Amino acid sequence: MKVVVVLPTYNEAENVGRLIHALQAPFERTGHDCAILVVDDRSPDGTAGIVREAQRRHPNVHLLEGERRGLGAAYIRGMRHALRELKADVVFEMDADFSHDPDDVPRLLKALEDGADFVIGSRYVEGGSIPAEWAPQRRAISRWGNRFARYIAGLSPVRDCTAGFRAIRGNLLRDIDLDHLHVQGYAFQIALLYEARLQGARIAEVPVHFVDRTAGESKLGMKDLVEFGLNVWWLRLRSSATFGKFLLVGGSGVVVNLGVFTLLLNAGVGKFIASPIAIEVSVVSNFLLNNYWTFRERKSTQRVRVKGLKFNVVSLLALALSYGTFVVLSHAFPEWPPQLSQFLGIVPATVVNYVLNSYWTFQKAPPAERRRHRRRR
Ligand code: GDD
Ligand code: MN
Repeated sequence: MKVVVVLPTYNEAENVGRLIHALQAPFERTGHDCAILVVDDRSPDGTAGIVREAQRRHPNVHLLEGERRGLGAAYIRGMRHALRELKADVVFEMDADFSHDPDDVPRLLKALEDGADFVIGSRYVEGGSIPAEWAPQRRAISRWGNRFARYIAGLSPVRDCTAGFRAIRGNLLRDIDLDHLHVQGYAFQIALLYEARLQGARIAEVPVHFVDRTAGESKLGMKDLVEFGLNVWWLRLRSSATFGKFLLVGGSGVVVNLGVFTLLLNAGVGKFIASPIAIEVSVVSNFLLNNYWTFRERKSTQRVRVKGLKFNVVSLLALALSYGTFVVLSHAFPEWPPQLSQFLGIVPATVVNYVLNSYWTFQKAPPAERRRHRRRR
């Protein structure tokens, strides 16, 4: 097999030469034809020069240079080159700063040989770890990034969704449209994982110890975090039509709420009476649309009576929240048009409504129940 380790570098002059050297022994142990492809974005510290020097000693080292557009953009360029020019059967992602142990390469490759298509060097499975010296802030970014990826983007069976140490089958990558991932930075990791899952890839996680770099510094920036946050929701939208429908229903609820509110005001009804009536009408219209459209496919095993009761509890809560917000804002900002306070009242109610209705009122039956239910039909 032809194995290509893609090493993105930006200012890794202190690390890249040593890493190229350190990879040679584990390469030997794999028994495969292994190469390194450094993707350097014209690092001002002379990283490319050090790679060229290493090329004289190690013929299996390739260098690709380009403009700096982010970690994801570098990986996309590198992977394309590895597949087309180097005819890779397996492509590795790996950091060039020794956070990933070169001696783990054969272990990841072994998991691939055992049948996986997408192997993750995972910090968040039994036996893996993040650096003990990581500051609370860095820990939080990593943990919450993974939580978001798992529960919002829907990657939940995977424990380490943002890992940058991975071995991927070339044929899987050839089936993925790398040019249309729409990511430039670190969000690449979850975007690629998402596509791999869409392709039905067999994903395996191998525990690794991620160690902090000792030379140079991390390039993770604010821009990466913002792109990551947006990408998580984008993947969520793509994966669940349910969420899209929920947004549409929510939009219709806003129209119904403000429409009824305005009609009542025009009919001479006082605003503190018109507000809860308009809220209640929109809560009912939202429930009906969600019940018969958004969550229609959810094979709930609960009785309609139970669902109705839960719906009433959720409605009351949403009504209280929404009306409470309206009253508070109306008194705090009497000069605002009442429609504005009424609209702002919708925001907290929508969140509570979706969470409670999705996970409680219209909750999916647990797998065993669902199976029994299907058999019954
Ligand atoms: N070519 C190129 N262009 N390389 C880049 C760029 C870029 O814009 N940004 C970062 N790199 C390279 C770095 O030089 C390094 O070799 C590797 O990508 C990882 O960058 P670090 O800056 O060291 O990342 P990190 O340690 O903060 O993040 C690691 O953990 C994250 C999850 O916690 C990486 O493994 C990430 O991929 C991972 O998502
Ligand atoms: Mn690093």
